[in-house]
Amino acid sequence: MSAATMIQTADDALLDVEHLTMRFGGLLAIDDLSFTARVHEITSIIGPNGAGKTTVFNCLTGFYKPTVGRLRLCHPDKGEYYLERMEGFRIAQVADVGRTFQNIRLFPKMTVLENLIIAQHNRLMKASVFALAGLLGLARYRVAEKAAVEKAKFWLDRVNLTARADWEAGNLPYGDQRRLEIARAMCIAPCLLCLDEPAAGLNPRESLELNELLLSIRDEQGIGILLIEHDMSVVMGISDHIVVLDHGRKISDGDPAFVRNDPTVIRAYLGEAEDGEGADA
Ligand SMILES: Nc1ncnc2c1ncn2[C@@H]1O[C@H](COP(=O)(O)OP(=O)(O)O)[C@@H](O)[C@H]1O
Ligand SMILES: [Mg+2]
Repeated sequence: MSAATMIQTADDALLDVEHLTMRFGGLLAIDDLSFTARVHEITSIIGPNGAGKTTVFNCLTGFYKPTVGRLRLCHPDKGEYYLERMEGFRIAQVADVGRTFQNIRLFPKMTVLENLIIAQHNRLMKASVFALAGLLGLARYRVAEKAAVEKAKFWLDRVNLTARADWEAGNLPYGDQRRLEIARAMCIAPCLLCLDEPAAGLNPRESLELNELLLSIRDEQGIGILLIEHDMSVVMGISDHIVVLDHGRKISDGDPAFVRNDPTVIRAYLGEAEDGEGADA
């Protein structure tokens, strides 16, 4: 655990983003962004198209190296990790940060169940090293494999996809693919789950079901959720905490009631929607 120490913060912060700045050539996509996400909370990042929301996720999950800034994850079981110093695969596999993508990225030719098993591939591979070491190890691999299937089944059930376990993922209706992505991210047992516009393209009923799912994940799994979302009914309905971005800068930060009534937000963002402009996250 080289990037980690066993220090716990007193204020149950799960993720501390400090002075995050990301430049692409001359473009300042994120400008000195600081905020905190906590365990047992849904923290939403909202803001117009191009505000820098997906870039925040890409910095957190190691796709981009931030130009400046500290991304401190306080893992409830493992200690502290500085994500800006870690490779993406270690952020997922060691720091236990899970994510979904704005454009769905499943393995379309694999079955629904296989998508959930493969998500746990790394843990299975670790167990298979023991398998090579002898019979004891083989038993260990079988235990890990069984646990992976059990976990996949659990999450299939939670996202109402048990009946479609054998479907090719690419053939699922869109809303099912969105839920499968969340199930896949949950199969790595994340301490922080990052969801990039999970309600995009869902009908109102599916959107309500998604709200229920996210609230139950927050309450039952005791993790933190970081949510990028443009659907205001989702954001205002389920967020504990909202961070508002505009042109890469944070313009507001607080609970839904605070953000909804913040004149800066109304002017920059919600006001546009009320005028029928259709604010887009
Ligand atoms: N890899 C990249 N190279 C250059 N510019 C990028 C890259 N990724 C994002 N950007 C730019 O950064 C800004 C923020 O983008 P993004 O984070 O995708 O916004 P949002 O998710 O809020 O819509 C946009 O101007 C976008 O064009
Ligand atoms: Mg985006």
